[in-house]
Amino acid sequence: MSARKIIIDTDPGQDDAVAILLALASPDEIEVLGLTAVAGNVPLPLTSKNARIICELAGRPEIPVHAGCDTPLARPLVTAEHVHGKTGLDGPDLPDPEGDLTPGHAVDFIIDTLRAHPPGSVTLCPLGPLTNIATAFRDAPDVIARVREVVLMGGACFEGGNITPSAEFNIYVDPEAANIVFRSGAPLTVMPLDVTHKALVTKPRNDAFRALGTPVGIAVAEMTDFFERFDKEKYGSAGAPLHDPCVTAYLIRPDLFRGRHINVEIETRSDLTLGMTVADWWRVTGRAPNATFMGDIDADGFFTLLTERLARL
Ligand code: RIB
Ligand code: CA
Repeated sequence: MSARKIIIDTDPGQDDAVAILLALASPDEIEVLGLTAVAGNVPLPLTSKNARIICELAGRPEIPVHAGCDTPLARPLVTAEHVHGKTGLDGPDLPDPEGDLTPGHAVDFIIDTLRAHPPGSVTLCPLGPLTNIATAFRDAPDVIARVREVVLMGGACFEGGNITPSAEFNIYVDPEAANIVFRSGAPLTVMPLDVTHKALVTKPRNDAFRALGTPVGIAVAEMTDFFERFDKEKYGSAGAPLHDPCVTAYLIRPDLFRGRHINVEIETRSDLTLGMTVADWWRVTGRAPNATFMGDIDADGFFTLLTERLARL
């Protein structure tokens, strides 16, 4: 079976970095057409730079990285330096990128790539706020029908929120963009906190990354050492939740995940619950299903896959 062609839309972010590394380590299953950076965890200049850093860490300097939207559609940017550090990739001491960003706006790259490939052949993998994706869908509605699948990290159901009591960060930062994407009709597969909070980098798992002894393995372990402190203190959890790698792991081993095809709507009006993904898990509303919303993960299988693939870089 030929590799799935994808665009990774990202706001690195240590967990974004691991998701990108996993994709680049899996060329038989995934062909990364390019990365599109969006403002999220840290401002756009840093997420763009970090995306380039990760491609070069993976030994893939040729991967196009396009800078995208620097603010949400309709509200000021909210960032997460408290989680990811000032650079967005705090932890390892990684060199500045040697290569430049690829000219051209990320939204144009998304639109042009979808129009240039056969319908149903390109998968979009948003790992941050959905501003770039929503802008592409709004500016070029014809491309929506050309999308094979949108596999995104975002939202929550039973787990509650992580940036407010009811909202997950990626959705909260740009709820208007999320609303466009969730109502677009594009096939959606969602990796919410209900799944990612079960993908915890415990000490043995992080030791396995470090034991790879490679620049990638050591960098991932050092990213996790930094990234985990916030979640362990907040949740008392056994390690950092690896949110974004659930997206690229799904493309390789969908059998590691369990979910339901349900209706998911986005709260865009209430100040109290802004950015909440209202997931009709028990199908009580009668609203048409629009997303495969994941609820469970084989965490041991996930980390076995991740460690084995990172060892390839
Ligand atoms: O809520 C977790 C998500 O927000 C992850 O994608 C993380 O990188 C941040 O973007
Ligand atoms: Ca992210």
